[in-house]
Amino acid sequence: MDSLTLRQPDDWHLHLRDGAALHSVLAHTAAQFARAIVMPNLKPPVTTTAQAAAYRERILAARPAGSNFEPLLTLYLTDRTDPAEMAVAKASGIIHGCKLYPAGATTNSDAGVTDIRRIDAALEAMAEIRLPLLVHGEVTHHDVDVFDREARFIDTVLAPLRARLPQLRIVFEHVTTRAAVEFVRAQPPQEVAATITPQHLALNRNALFQGGIRPHLYCLPVLKREHDRVALLDAVVAGDPRFFLGTDSAPHARNTKESACGCAGIYSAHAALELYAEVFEQAGALHRLEAFASEFGPRFYGLPLNAGQITLQRSAWTVPAAYPFAGETIVPLRAGETLGWRLAPPST
Ligand code: NCD
Ligand code: ZN
Repeated sequence: MDSLTLRQPDDWHLHLRDGAALHSVLAHTAAQFARAIVMPNLKPPVTTTAQAAAYRERILAARPAGSNFEPLLTLYLTDRTDPAEMAVAKASGIIHGCKLYPAGATTNSDAGVTDIRRIDAALEAMAEIRLPLLVHGEVTHHDVDVFDREARFIDTVLAPLRARLPQLRIVFEHVTTRAAVEFVRAQPPQEVAATITPQHLALNRNALFQGGIRPHLYCLPVLKREHDRVALLDAVVAGDPRFFLGTDSAPHARNTKESACGCAGIYSAHAALELYAEVFEQAGALHRLEAFASEFGPRFYGLPLNAGQITLQRSAWTVPAAYPFAGETIVPLRAGETLGWRLAPPST
């Protein structure tokens, strides 16, 4: 097979940042995806519908000429989120979920939730109006091993939440473990889904230490064991509609990654579909790519499937060593390496 034409996909978990950084990265995403769920972990975070509406305008203004890319906004939950804001968010039509960042779990999560019970009223409001909760599923306690944080979150936060509020629709973001796959598989498909990144499908934690420490492969949740990676791959190869595409492309300037205390986040927007196509092909499951990338996500979010198409061609190319990023540079996933698939330019 030398080319693969798919219904145009969407990215159900994306960091676009703001200002000059937003202008640097948006063209990559807009070239591949019709829509993206845009994460609200800006500084300061996007906590109100009014802030989300203003952010949406900035994203629209940063689109390349001729682009119809549509940002799907999210709100950042804090200990002080007003439950009444949930109905305002839903009614706006531009907000498609609210994100739970446990305080301290990841980049720009300082304002996150310190104890999920503090947002009970907001979660109840979301359950009632069917506004999905998007979760960064990791506990942050210092006594919990960093590789066990997702599994511990399931046992101590997510499973009790499901029991307490079964009507709350949940997207378990960037799942990384066998435990997470098993948890999601045990839930009703209309109520609970999960996104999966290209790096967690392709790499295990050995990659972080391959010949030396690899800051550009550091993201949160951190890469896991091989048996976890295999579980993620099995979930997508099975064509389970609960698992869909979310890159978690998270740009950080090179100097903030190659540092004594490097930031968490992997940039994959430059070649997102190519990266997924490679792992699906290696797993003998290219025929599953279209539903994963273009159907399961919109169905879960209750949005129409895209009408357009994109084409991937079998054509080797070398990923640049870096891309410009707000006056600095960014090192993309697979920098300097060869990819076998390439997105064809749109036909006009
Ligand atoms: C994300 C970021 O940089 O905003 N980083 C990451 O490692 N994935 C935040 C997140 O999604 O955890
Ligand atoms: Zn993220």
